[in-house]
Amino acid sequence: MRVAMIGTGYVGLVSGACFSEFGVDVVCVDRDASKIERLKKGEIPIYEPGLDELVKNNVEQGRLTFTTDLKQAIAGADAVFIAVGTPSRRGDGHADLSYVYGAAMDIAGALTGYAVIVTKSTVPVGTGREVERIIKAARPELEFDVVSNPEFLREGSAINDFMRPDRVVIGAETERAQKVMRQLYRVLYLIETPILFTSLETSELIKYAANTFLAAKITFINEIADLCEKVGADVHDVARGIGLDGRIGKKFLHPGPGYGGSCFPKDTLALVKTAQDYGAPLRIIETVVAVNDKRKRDMADKIIAACGGSVAGKTISILGLTFKPNTDDMRDSPSLAIIPALTQAGAKIQAYDPEGMHEAKKMLPDITYCNDGYETMKDADAVVVLTEWNQFRNLDTKRMKSLLKTPIMVDLRNVYTPADMKAAGFTYICIGRPKA
Ligand code: UGA
Repeated sequence: MRVAMIGTGYVGLVSGACFSEFGVDVVCVDRDASKIERLKKGEIPIYEPGLDELVKNNVEQGRLTFTTDLKQAIAGADAVFIAVGTPSRRGDGHADLSYVYGAAMDIAGALTGYAVIVTKSTVPVGTGREVERIIKAARPELEFDVVSNPEFLREGSAINDFMRPDRVVIGAETERAQKVMRQLYRVLYLIETPILFTSLETSELIKYAANTFLAAKITFINEIADLCEKVGADVHDVARGIGLDGRIGKKFLHPGPGYGGSCFPKDTLALVKTAQDYGAPLRIIETVVAVNDKRKRDMADKIIAACGGSVAGKTISILGLTFKPNTDDMRDSPSLAIIPALTQAGAKIQAYDPEGMHEAKKMLPDITYCNDGYETMKDADAVVVLTEWNQFRNLDTKRMKSLLKTPIMVDLRNVYTPADMKAAGFTYICIGRPKA
């Protein structure tokens, strides 16, 4: 089997490396020559645990190569994956499909024989059909099939998610295309992964429905956490109490400062727009988007309240900047809403993140970046846990107290327990749990 992977962003690089690990010959293509040069030297442009090793091994085995030459990559490929970006279009929230359609045109120009064209990027319903139309219009004589094969990878655990997925969804409508896809995922068939064949449109919608459902689940528990604070209940016990019901499930019920990242914010918005366009509005998801946006701003107010109602002239220590741990991704991170609100209110910020500071400096240039978590606390009026990196889970409270001006902790990820923090002499504010 031979695969061409167009786009060496997060999805393309992880999928390409994992397919090569399955024994498939993969050529990753990108028009960014400097990126391809770096990849050829084994430099991985993103932080994803295990990816460097996986790429290195498969490059050494000769199953994974990188090129800017699209024609050469596509010639003779059994499957051509489109894994280019689909950012939110400025102004209206729709997914911007210009890169996807551009790739379709490129593919049409380069195909030499039958291949399946697979959309791996998250694309709105109807995109696969349009890709089909574009290629057919450009090359009416060509034999090909368009397939939708969305990914369900989480940043930080993407390789495991690819190698041991809960399911694989494949929108493939011909026997011939299904055969190619079955062959590609042969390794997963052997470990009895459920593989679901559907129509193109159904597969495209499954991806959005999954992400928006998860975003709704998080937003639900976040609102329940707010209610817990008012009535004196414990949100973790509530989450466990409802999550043990198999119909609800335990996962994605951890409260926090609001979901972020490159997927949930963009995909919830895009599905809302699609649904409006089709006259079938998704009012639940519209509300989820609004509640989540407001939540990030509310978190700044929570921090200000913890500091006695004002942060003017105060120094706030921030632990974690990325939207979640084990990634350097800053896209739509709650920190991007919370920190500017704090600085506008007059606070000085001292922050540290294990992997995200390089990206963060571009987006939050006016704050002080420190070398580790403790350094952020020096003479600070309060410390805020914004991202639950492991290294922030077990900090030395004595040392923290000796550094902080006042022992106030706002734990937006609930990694500490109220009783322990009280015993350590902290004023401890968290999410949805009663005070000790
Ligand atoms: C998400 C989905 O989980 C993946 O299945 C999907 O493939 C991916 O989007 C995508 O569409 O590409 P990811 O964005 O990497 O993956 O991150 P998640 O682990 O889902 O977390 C998203 C956000 O929700 C983070 O801000 C996280 O802190 C937050 N979250 C998650 C919570 O606040 N509580 C939870 O219980 C879980």
